[in-house]
Amino acid sequence: MGKRGMRCRHRFMGNRCVLKLSSPKDDGLFIPNVGEWSRDKHHFLLRYIDAFTAAMKPKPWAGLHYIDLFAGAGVERLKESGRLDWGSPLIAAQATHPFDGLHFCDKDKRKCQALKARLDRMELKVATQVLHGDANDKIHDVVAAIPPNTLSMAFLDPYGLHLDYETLNTLATRRADLIIFFPDRLDILRNWEVYYWDNPSSNLDRVLGPGADWRGLRDNTPRQRWVEAFLKLYRHQIEKLGYTEFEYEPIPNSGQRLYWLIFCSKSKAGSKIWRGISQKKPNNQTTFDFGEPE
Ligand SMILES: C[S@@+](CC[C@H](N)C(=O)[O-])C[C@H]1O[C@@H](n2cnc3c(N)ncnc32)[C@H](O)[C@@H]1O
Repeated sequence: MGKRGMRCRHRFMGNRCVLKLSSPKDDGLFIPNVGEWSRDKHHFLLRYIDAFTAAMKPKPWAGLHYIDLFAGAGVERLKESGRLDWGSPLIAAQATHPFDGLHFCDKDKRKCQALKARLDRMELKVATQVLHGDANDKIHDVVAAIPPNTLSMAFLDPYGLHLDYETLNTLATRRADLIIFFPDRLDILRNWEVYYWDNPSSNLDRVLGPGADWRGLRDNTPRQRWVEAFLKLYRHQIEKLGYTEFEYEPIPNSGQRLYWLIFCSKSKAGSKIWRGISQKKPNNQTTFDFGEPE
């Protein structure tokens, strides 16, 4: 993997600007397999990073930081097509307007080692933290490494309900926009009765945080409204941390919405950027039509 072959590029088709990275090559390091829909979340991530760093670099922040608590290995193989795709940490590492600090964590040692090796090969001039362990523990090390008066964006992309509310609470001590994977269909609705209902410290309780009465909400909400009621409850909890702006992007799989990317910010500027970049959907679609949360 050459250093220069990987830069983020704005390519032009006619007079239309298309933001793209050149595809990764098999570099001999560990590459996990992922679903094809992973590409869709990266479409939005790449576009947000580009717009966020361009808009915020000239502002008087003491630095721009990128946080990725469920980082993966940096390169992924799409299961069906076999195609290689950049993972979120290396999308951030190749930002056209580089971040001043990159903070990565993953619980899987093999992925962490592969990510670290890839980052070493890139010879970045940016302070980079790669932490092996549970994001909900390592968040303290991440926050400690982010100076005050900086602005961050955090990509929070677990497989399921593994991002504790307390972790968001710790993160909220720094100014950070959040892009959160919210697996309502993937995890909550599949597992809540079987695994969560009778367990007061279930994953769902830890994700939603103190004061979130999801059991009461489930009892008092018609089944067809469960998904949106959950989403509202989660939003309400995050609002308690000072977040005021929320945007939702449905990510589909085989024609069905699989999960939401939830964008949260404490400023209208962040939200405006998200709305701008999310106009353009993957594969040049203009909309995913799965209904929006109220
Ligand atoms: C969906 S993958 C991340 C993909 C990556 N963000 C990307 O877009 O390229 C989720 C990752 O979270 C890691 N993981 C799961 N539970 C974790 C935890 N509690 N703390 C840190 N990492 C965790 C897994 O090893 C996996 O690499």
